[in-house]
Amino acid sequence: MRLFLDTANIDEIREINRWGVLSGVTTNPSLVAKEHDDPEAVWKEILAEVDGDISLETTEPEAGPMYDEGVRLAGIAPNAVVKVPMTAAGLEAGKRLADDGIRVNVTLVFSPAQAILAAEIGAYCVSPFLGRIDDIGADGMNVLRDICELFAVQGYASNVLASSLRHPMHVIEAALAGADIATMPYDVFTKLVKHPLTDIGLEKFLADWRGIQTGTP
Ligand code: E4P
Repeated sequence: MRLFLDTANIDEIREINRWGVLSGVTTNPSLVAKEHDDPEAVWKEILAEVDGDISLETTEPEAGPMYDEGVRLAGIAPNAVVKVPMTAAGLEAGKRLADDGIRVNVTLVFSPAQAILAAEIGAYCVSPFLGRIDDIGADGMNVLRDICELFAVQGYASNVLASSLRHPMHVIEAALAGADIATMPYDVFTKLVKHPLTDIGLEKFLADWRGIQTGTP
């Protein structure tokens, strides 16, 4: 399972990218707005920093302008992936973009039925939002499992991109479900590396090592 960061903050991206495990970044209009900068400048910095898929989201509500916007976004850099929403207009624009050979990420997916539609237009990625499903008292992980199973049964080529992940267990369970990609905020990414026994073990190793140097084992 490839690991993506869900942020538009270049400092967060640079830090995690140094770990050598970052395969891409997802952005959305809310994340870009948090940076209080020109969106194009924000995207260009990210596209240059990470050698992997970077999702840039369209904001035009109608299919025609959304398609034009998608073509423009895809032209910013070869690693750009164009996000379209899971709406009728998003499907129409997304299908035209996919037919042009542009990689499309269908976002705001909340059900297996929507995921089938996204796969049928030839989307490169389909993004079910697990955390937001949990937020309304339903089971986001079940939705993800159903989508992974039906993509396997049907042989759909689209990548399942587990999104709106809120904690490390979401990441682990998404991997077990067979998601192709998991995107998560910086906070969740940094929690993946942490374990108290690693800290305790390291402290003891280093204390013993200092003992050798000082002759006080
Ligand atoms: C994915 O592409 C979305 O940007 C994201 O995962 C949304 O997550 P949220 O529900 O935490 O805003």
